[in-house]
Amino acid sequence: MVKDTLSILDNRTGRTYELPVKDGAIRATDLRQIKAGTDDFGLMTYDPAFLNTASCRSKITFIDGDQGILRYRGYPIDQLAEKCSYLECAYLLLNGELPTAPQHEAWKSEVTAHTMVHEDVRKLIDSFRYDAHPMGMLASTVAALSTYYPESKRIFDKQQRRLDITRLIAKLPTLAAWSYRHSRGYPYVYPDNELSFAGNFLSMVKRMGNKPYEPDPALERALDVLFILHADHEQNCSTNAMRAVGSSQADPYVSVAAAAAALYGPLHGGANEAVLRMLKEIGSIDKVPAFIKEVKEGKSGRLMGFGHRVYKNYDPRAKIIKKMADAVFEVTGQNPLLKIAVELEKIALSDEYFVKRKLYPNVDFYSGLIYEAMGFPVDMFPVLFAIPRVSGWLSQWEELLLDEEQKIARPRQLFLGEGERDVVPLAARG
Ligand code: ACO
Repeated sequence: MVKDTLSILDNRTGRTYELPVKDGAIRATDLRQIKAGTDDFGLMTYDPAFLNTASCRSKITFIDGDQGILRYRGYPIDQLAEKCSYLECAYLLLNGELPTAPQHEAWKSEVTAHTMVHEDVRKLIDSFRYDAHPMGMLASTVAALSTYYPESKRIFDKQQRRLDITRLIAKLPTLAAWSYRHSRGYPYVYPDNELSFAGNFLSMVKRMGNKPYEPDPALERALDVLFILHADHEQNCSTNAMRAVGSSQADPYVSVAAAAAALYGPLHGGANEAVLRMLKEIGSIDKVPAFIKEVKEGKSGRLMGFGHRVYKNYDPRAKIIKKMADAVFEVTGQNPLLKIAVELEKIALSDEYFVKRKLYPNVDFYSGLIYEAMGFPVDMFPVLFAIPRVSGWLSQWEELLLDEEQKIARPRQLFLGEGERDVVPLAARG
């Protein structure tokens, strides 16, 4: 009979151990019984950057990186992108099911009711330097919201928690748009409750003067689909930050600020900004082969927008974005950098270096081109990522809080430093 266990022989002691295997994993703490001697702490696993460590059981997002599959609560991402709105997906991530029509209406009006921010927050944004990066402003102002909602510390009160979740999903577009307006020196535009989630965001970014803003339906839909594609991605760097900070029972505003900080980095949410800069630096199609050569030789950094910790196949989101790009470019006119991107992809996908390492375009390879065609400056790209990802962060945060197995996140280390030694007074040090 096949047993769901793992037998381990410790060659140091000759002892064998049988550990249960559940859901394809052993418990790392089960290894602690494996000791070389009585004063031994017990065996640990060493896993820098969590390459092979599950930190939670989750029912939210499924990824099969080898096959290029992404599902939210069981629904394939391509179906969600085709048939749903971002707010439906946010509801799905949070509640486990897509909303019925009445639930959808109620959810939409709840979110719409919370899009305003306290006027003092406007003054706070005003106080940033004229050239402040909008992502820095966003992360700081989200953290500041914690001070406006001290009751958000009651994280185990479901009603309170849900109120703060709604507030965060609703207010992020406002903070994001205002960060952009500040960096451009434009007056702030207040939320327009008559518009859709994406339409309202476009209005707060683009409206000039008193005339109501009417978003182009193709661009509004494209932005909404981009929001869907970025809403969650299981235990990525920023979600891990959200869970780690949330595990200390900090309130959701400061936890989201920590997640936003993680998203800011060029290896994560800053990648599409880096892709655009890279494409501009390459400058023309004929320079692509030389650039690829330099990447392979380690002289030009990495090919940004390529490779993924989990996907060792084409990122399914990149496929959807590539298709959507045509609809956007029909309205905006083609982005001249697209030709360079397509050539880069073509050469990289047939180059042994990239093939061998299973490096494919990720979600960020084409998203920046679309954002740029829509008129967003590159420093807004990570901000555009953060707007929908907050629904994923909050779903994962709530799952963490309700998971009885979770405790404060606190990894172990393998200490390789000095043994005990005596302090020599400053004057006596050579
Ligand atoms: N260009 C060139 N080489 C690459 C790239 C790349 N984009 N990505 C990985 N490699 C190479 C590495 O040099 C390494 O080669 P080696 O085995 O000869 O040393 C090998 O492929 C494996 O790379 P790792 O760094 O071990 O892969 P990891 O899973 O840690 O990194 C990451 C994943 C960070 C996404 C990486 O592929 C990368 O830096 N890509 C560019 C940045 C990017 O596009 N990030 C967006 C990710 S998607 C998102 O956050 C939404």
